[in-house]
Amino acid sequence: MKERVINTNCFVEDAVIVISDAARRAISDKGIFRLSLCGGGTPKPVYAALARAVPALDWPRIQLTFGDERTVPPDHEQSNYRMVKESLLDHIEIPEGNVFRMKGELEPTEAAALYERELRQVASRFGEERYSHDLLLLGVGDDGHTASLFPGTEALEETKHDVVANRVPQLDTTRITFTYPLINAARHVCFMVNSASKLTLVNQVRSGRADYPAAKVHPTSGELTWLLGQ
Ligand code: 6PG
Repeated sequence: MKERVINTNCFVEDAVIVISDAARRAISDKGIFRLSLCGGGTPKPVYAALARAVPALDWPRIQLTFGDERTVPPDHEQSNYRMVKESLLDHIEIPEGNVFRMKGELEPTEAAALYERELRQVASRFGEERYSHDLLLLGVGDDGHTASLFPGTEALEETKHDVVANRVPQLDTTRITFTYPLINAARHVCFMVNSASKLTLVNQVRSGRADYPAAKVHPTSGELTWLLGQ
């Protein structure tokens, strides 16, 4: 696994460069760019800047997936899909079939199984065992969680499924989340952290601190980038 760290005072601009460069390479090589979006607050300005990028990204050749979702309807204020819709989807021309929404309004186990089936159907068209993202964006929480892989939760132990419903007692909720097998099948994972208060945490994750779920993200045959806002 090739790892690089980008320390930046231009976090949003550099995030757009990382994503746009990955898109150009993937579309040039394979005619398609498969990008996974993360939730939370950090990526929102990045998605808004992506929508305004010049030259525009080749959206008809881009597939968008979601690394996790809350178990709420798509118009709920906590919905990652709603955040992406408002910051990005409402401002670009992307075919509806290119956006793979996790259906947070469904029973969580059913929603996870449905999403996994959708991704595996596409993967089979590429001759892949599991969907292999060209770029998978992640954030890191203060407890070292990433996607909705929280400390002490069952999804951390999942080795077979790509997408699961994960009970998160510390939030008293259930989330739908990618698992390590799917995350580590990505060609390139980029953690986006734009908070100086998290830099110690990032160093602990990078040093492999076992109780931090983000520390187990190791793209099997891909790149890992840390984009760190100063
Ligand atoms: C979510 C995200 C979650 C997020 C981290 C960091 O659905 O909330 O998937 O893993 O990336 O909590 O969030 P911030 O970037 O807002 O700190």
